[in-house]
Amino acid sequence: MKFRITILCENSVGPISGTLGEHGFSALIEPSQGEPLLFDTGQGLTLLHNARRMNRDLSKVHNVVISHGHYDHAGGLLPLLAECGPKQVHAHPGIFAPRFRIRDTGECHPIGMPHSRDQLEAAGGTFELSKEFRQVAPGMSLTGEVPRVTAFETGDQGLYCDCTGQDVDNTPDDQSLILETGRGLVVILGCCHAGLVNTLGHIAGLSGRHDIYAVVGGTHLGFCGQEQLERTVSALKGWGVQKVAASHCTGFAASARLSREMPKEFQLALVGYTLEV
Ligand SMILES: [Fe+2]
Ligand SMILES: [Fe+2]
Repeated sequence: MKFRITILCENSVGPISGTLGEHGFSALIEPSQGEPLLFDTGQGLTLLHNARRMNRDLSKVHNVVISHGHYDHAGGLLPLLAECGPKQVHAHPGIFAPRFRIRDTGECHPIGMPHSRDQLEAAGGTFELSKEFRQVAPGMSLTGEVPRVTAFETGDQGLYCDCTGQDVDNTPDDQSLILETGRGLVVILGCCHAGLVNTLGHIAGLSGRHDIYAVVGGTHLGFCGQEQLERTVSALKGWGVQKVAASHCTGFAASARLSREMPKEFQLALVGYTLEV
C-alpha cells in the first residue's frame, strides 16, 4: 500500500501561501486505496483553513485518530465535526482525564481536552476507545498504550493530573499510528510522550518488524533532558531510520541536533510538508 502524508497543522508553516501555524499537530493520511484518515486535529484554529488552502476535503474523512488528550491535538475535533460531518474517533480511554502544565513560576494551565465527550458525541463523534494495539484501517494500526521501559526516557517533567504538583501525568493515553508501506513501517507521532525509543521498541515487539522507514511528527524531545536526546539520536541511527520528519514539540535545539547528526534523514515537517511513500 502507498500513502500520502500531509501535515495540516503544525507550529510553523512552509511555503504554501495562506496557510497558518499554531502550537499543535495534525496530519492527513491518504492511502492509495480506501478512505483517508486524519491523525490529530490541532487546537482548532487552523485545521479547516489549512485543509481548504491545500484542497483537502475533510468531509471525505470518516476515521479520526486522537493521539492523546492534549488541547493541541484534540481541540480541532469539535469544529471538524461541526463543519465536516460525523466521524469515528479512535483513541485511548484516558483521553478525557483532566491534565495540566505547571510552569517553573508555579502557574498552572489546563491542557486537556477542551470539549467534553458529551459535546463531541452530540456533534457527531463516535468514540472507539482502546488501550490495545489494533488495526484502524487497511495498512494502518495504532500502537495502543506504550509501556515505559527505558530508564532514560524521563519525558516532560511539567505535566500533572491536577494543580497541586503531586500527581505526575506521564500521559499514558499517548499512541502513535503505524503505516505499512512498501519501504517499511512509517510511524506517525502526536507528541510521543512515551518516548521514541519506547515507541519503536513497542512496535517492533508487536509486529516483529524492525524496518522503520520513517518517523513523522512530534517527538517531544524539546521538552526532555539531554540524555534522552542523545540516546534517542543514537537509537534512530541504530534502527536505520531513513526519514526523521520532525514537527511540533521537537523544538529548535533538538531539531538542530537531529539535523547535524542525521543530515540526509532529517527534515522539518512544517504545515504543507508531504511525504509520499
Ligand atoms: Fe503536543
Ligand atoms: Fe502532548
